[in-house]
Amino acid sequence: MKKKMVVLTGAGISAESGLRTFRDSDGLWEGYEVTEVATPRAWKKNPSLVLDFYNMRRRDVAAATPNAAHAGLAELEKLVDLTIVTQNIDDLHERAGSSKVMHLHGSIFRMRSDDDEETLYEIRDDMMPGDKAPDGSFLRPAIVWFEEAVPMIGMASAVIEEADLFAIVGTSLVVYPAAGLIHYTRPGIPLFIVDKKLPDVRLNNLVRIEKPATEGVQELVQLVKAIVGEMES
Ligand code: APR
Repeated sequence: MKKKMVVLTGAGISAESGLRTFRDSDGLWEGYEVTEVATPRAWKKNPSLVLDFYNMRRRDVAAATPNAAHAGLAELEKLVDLTIVTQNIDDLHERAGSSKVMHLHGSIFRMRSDDDEETLYEIRDDMMPGDKAPDGSFLRPAIVWFEEAVPMIGMASAVIEEADLFAIVGTSLVVYPAAGLIHYTRPGIPLFIVDKKLPDVRLNNLVRIEKPATEGVQELVQLVKAIVGEMES
């Protein structure tokens, strides 16, 4: 039986694939007001602006490719029973070969109707204002916006409670409830964080790797290899 590991990822892991983060100096929220594009109120007020914003994100993701950090985490599956809990709406973990990926904030390649959050439709091209779902209500991106509940949070916390190892890669840990997930780890398990500029996080026994994700994840993989070897010997 392999040891169970969970990695919580954020926009920083996809930065070196050319996808902008949200809160770095060139981040998406420098150019947009969150409240104008990523809330239910924004959707009511100006659906065209919201769709434009996510149409751009979809084009960017489609043009991007996974980087060495995504590949490194996919490799980790050889060593551990790995679940990735990502805040990202891109599909770069899947394209790198990771098999268990939970998307806390939805997916850029899915849409849903205003009235039904469970029936998802694939979308690869641009969404058009006024497009309707078979249930007659408007289609919107299947993204979890600010001020909305995060349906996956219960499953994510449950898998973290079971983890034997836990790592955080490329997230500022400012958005809740995702940021609170780090507190579901069992006491005493090995904990790691990889970030170009480490956020202020207080956890005991946290191994801090202050490096870009493409380098830092390679280091993480080596550390996990050594620890799993020790745990299993
Ligand atoms: N390698 C590693 N870390 C990086 C890199 C890199 N190349 N580039 C940036 N980072 C780090 C930053 O230092 C920061 O800690 O990635 C983090 C990015 O933070 P945010 O932009 O806040 O992104 P994230 O934490 O994923 O945001 C959470 O906020 O806007 C919402 O729904 C959106 O899922 C998103 C959530």
